[in-house]
Amino acid sequence: MSKRVIMAAGNWKMNKTPKEAVEFVNELKGLAAGADSEVVIGVPFVCIPNVIEAVKGSNIKVAAQNVHWEASGAYTGEVSCGMLKESGVDYVIIGHSERREYFGETNEMINKKARAIIDSGMIPIICCGETLTQREQGVTAEHVRYQIKVALLGLSAQEVSNLVIAYEPIWAIGTGKTATEEQAEEVCAIIRKLIAELYGTDVSEKTRILYGGSVNAGNAKALFAMPNIDGGLVGGASLKLDAFEKIIKHYA
Ligand code: PGA
Repeated sequence: MSKRVIMAAGNWKMNKTPKEAVEFVNELKGLAAGADSEVVIGVPFVCIPNVIEAVKGSNIKVAAQNVHWEASGAYTGEVSCGMLKESGVDYVIIGHSERREYFGETNEMINKKARAIIDSGMIPIICCGETLTQREQGVTAEHVRYQIKVALLGLSAQEVSNLVIAYEPIWAIGTGKTATEEQAEEVCAIIRKLIAELYGTDVSEKTRILYGGSVNAGNAKALFAMPNIDGGLVGGASLKLDAFEKIIKHYA
């Protein structure tokens, strides 16, 4: 089977106001027209309405960076899947290490979010990854397998074949210290093997597995060329037009 469609997903984190977001997207639209990857931008909640309007007629899709799993109710400060879906969002990033570390997001919560996102007709981008200590202790495979196993609990083969997983070693996020292609490929292959164990190889050959952690214009091409890496979840470099253009065209 040929390799899956490469996804270049930007994760803006807490950056850009609605006005700045639209200015950026208006520039990106022209650049993305020639992209050979699926282009996604993960923007702050308040930017979503303007960005959805701005990407109309382009090949850029919009992701949210978080969501609550309940449909509605007394959850002050939270946003539901229904709200995102109605706004035109296609993807939702869940389980990012920053959400796990600063906001107490657990594997069980990520599993509930994945269920709710799929039930609303959107696609989860499920993040996982080990700390430097875990890597040095040699428990990366066990840790990532556990994170993904719990995140996928109760999902069907069809649902898993359609979702996206992002392997992001925490020591590589925002540090400029990218995993080597071999390190990234090794763990992405472990994740694909886990999906094959749980759902069979038909499914594991379809699920897209991204690498994230200091992806930039200079390393994207080599990373995305690895057999089990289907693109990248890009933080810092997705905020810069020239760098993100090279990444979405992954010719750098
Ligand atoms: P980075 O962030 O590319 O700035 O390392 C990646 C991420 O956190 O998704």
